[in-house]
Amino acid sequence: MSIGRRRFIGLSAAMAAAPLLTACSGYKKVPAAGVPRSDFDEDSTAEQVTEGIDLAGKIAVVTGCTSGIGFETMRVLALRGAWVIGTSRSLERAGDACRRVRGKTTPLALELADFDSVVRCAETIRALNSPVDMLILNAGYRGGGNERTIVDGVEKHFLVNHLGHFVLVNRLLDRLFLAWQGRIVVVASRAAYRSAPEAGIRFDDLTLERNYSDSLAYGHSKLANVLFSLELGKLLKGTRITSNSLHPGVINTQIDRNVNRFLQFGFGVLAALRGKSVEAGAATSCYVATSPLLGSTSGRYFEDCSAIEVRDSHLQDMAMADRLWFVSEELTRDYLVKHERPDWSEFENGLRKTGREGS
Ligand SMILES: NC(=O)c1ccc[n+]([C@@H]2O[C@H](COP(=O)([O-])OP(=O)(O)OC[C@H]3O[C@@H](n4cnc5c(N)ncnc54)[C@H](OP(=O)(O)O)[C@@H]3O)[C@@H](O)[C@H]2O)c1
Repeated sequence: MSIGRRRFIGLSAAMAAAPLLTACSGYKKVPAAGVPRSDFDEDSTAEQVTEGIDLAGKIAVVTGCTSGIGFETMRVLALRGAWVIGTSRSLERAGDACRRVRGKTTPLALELADFDSVVRCAETIRALNSPVDMLILNAGYRGGGNERTIVDGVEKHFLVNHLGHFVLVNRLLDRLFLAWQGRIVVVASRAAYRSAPEAGIRFDDLTLERNYSDSLAYGHSKLANVLFSLELGKLLKGTRITSNSLHPGVINTQIDRNVNRFLQFGFGVLAALRGKSVEAGAATSCYVATSPLLGSTSGRYFEDCSAIEVRDSHLQDMAMADRLWFVSEELTRDYLVKHERPDWSEFENGLRKTGREGS
């Protein structure tokens, strides 16, 4: 049986693009114990998972608000009443995105590969003297062409996807403490177990000199996202701040902007065959950021709005998470502030009894 030329090209491109979605599967996933089950699944949209949730008076920060999952996350959180601060490398692009959204939004510039820019962005948010209720670490970079890029001695995926967000969280943590129940939501990827190095974070080769590929580097940085959230969950135990990470699904966004047109076409075909709409792609972020069921759920990893554990992966490796934290602190030391854990007896409804902290 002959197949049409277009179909043949589509299938060839899809096969060539398969590594963008990460190669092998076969990992056993089990529901995470002790987390309330959600009524939502892979088809649920961000609007559906937030229906009936009133976010008036809440402040959300969404990094990477200009396209794809970040834009939809900003749109839906603003629709539900939150004031959303949306970031982009370009203030102009962030402004354009904010203008396309109904509700209260504020654009800010943030280049995650530049710690000075991260600090400036955080200081602008801090100057609002307001709690941050939801900090959604969504912005992401994926290289194309399999050329290793080193910026200031650090591999670029690790820098943008992990270290930039590491500094941002550090600089905004006291604003999350001021919230009634602050939530940190880390948009990772299943690449964290499907295409990261087999042994996990390569502490002896953080710049991935050995066997570099974009897929490996992306997976490495996404594993760092999950482990960062896991460690945050541990460090924030006993506070009202939670931290969780997630895979949004496979969605035809601009995440493949750096690969060639043939692979982009293939990614589009794959996403159409096995992926989600952008509306559904933002659902897990919005669910984890807002669901009343998750007020005390922390250090968990979500797919399709459910907390899961992935067997034989490094996603739950506390020792690796602990070591990654130490290494990340070393690499960003000059940009971090030291935090004292607040004494909760001094707080009421998120406010220090004698007035608002840090204003
Ligand atoms: N799409 C998928 O299938 C998929 C699957 C798994 C995980 N994810 C994750 O989902 C998140 C959102 O991705 P997406 O698919 O929506 O991709 P996208 O359409 O490319 O959006 C990425 C966002 O990140 C921002 N960004 C890129 N580089 C940046 C940098 N150096 N500093 C600051 N911001 C930067 C971009 O903003 P500007 O260009 O305006 O700066 C853009 O708004 C990413 O973390 C991605 O890894 C996506």
